[in-house]
Amino acid sequence: MSAIVIDGKETAKQIREELAKEVAELKNKGLTPHLTVILIGDDPASHSYVKGKEKGSQEIGISSEVIRYPDTISQDELLAKIAELNENPNVHGILVQLPLPPHIAEEAVIEAIDPAKDVDGFHPVNIGNMVIGNDTLLPCTPYGIIELIKRTGTEISGKHAVVIGRSNIVGKPVSSLLLRENATVTICHSRTRNLQELTRQADILVVAIGKPHVIGKEHVAPGAVVIDVGVNRIESGKLVGDVKFDEVKEIAGYLTPVPGGVGPMTITMLLQNTVKAAKRLAN
Ligand code: GUN
Repeated sequence: MSAIVIDGKETAKQIREELAKEVAELKNKGLTPHLTVILIGDDPASHSYVKGKEKGSQEIGISSEVIRYPDTISQDELLAKIAELNENPNVHGILVQLPLPPHIAEEAVIEAIDPAKDVDGFHPVNIGNMVIGNDTLLPCTPYGIIELIKRTGTEISGKHAVVIGRSNIVGKPVSSLLLRENATVTICHSRTRNLQELTRQADILVVAIGKPHVIGKEHVAPGAVVIDVGVNRIESGKLVGDVKFDEVKEIAGYLTPVPGGVGPMTITMLLQNTVKAAKRLAN
């Protein structure tokens, strides 16, 4: 049997349509959600991500601005700008595009953002609230993964979810969100000894390794929901996931493609967080 391919683009489109309606209603009440993105340096991937964020905002009626700095900006200058944005009542979401130049400490920047405006969901206060189950701004990629799984009609509660990867951006938070949804969660990483034995037990397998084509059909139980978070550019220039799509497709129940799976969901959840932050700050 062949897996159902999860269409992240279509799911993202549906959520963006729902958000556009909500934004129109907020605008009628005099509230226009506003996202400020800070982009430092000239990394092409960062520029491309930020363009996607601007385009997505525009599509659903959120106002957005991008503040650009050369990579010579000092940490103090950047922190001063964040402090100013924190105080600005017309700014509801602040996002500093990562990675940062080496002379700027990422944690200091993340921690400088008002948690109420932290639409990335990276601030330790928001991470803490997520872990204890409070309503908060959730990190976008993990939040998008949960939405994708739910919208397949899969019940997460009681399932065995296996996450490969323990990064602060994906592995740890997605594990926490799956636990919040009452899954039994196993986290695997580079030191895990019996990877295949564990992944074969997964009803839901989330792969966030960051290496091309490392997970094959021998890692997957028949009928499992497989979410591939990897985005790897291979020599030919093609983008591929961490999962061997063609062979896992033959055994999984559901599978996300790369591109067009998790990717489109990340910006969508950022837009959702911006709308949520605006509503909370206005109340
Ligand atoms: N760089 C790559 N992905 C992200 C993201 O989700 N948020 C931020 N701030 N920077 C990124």
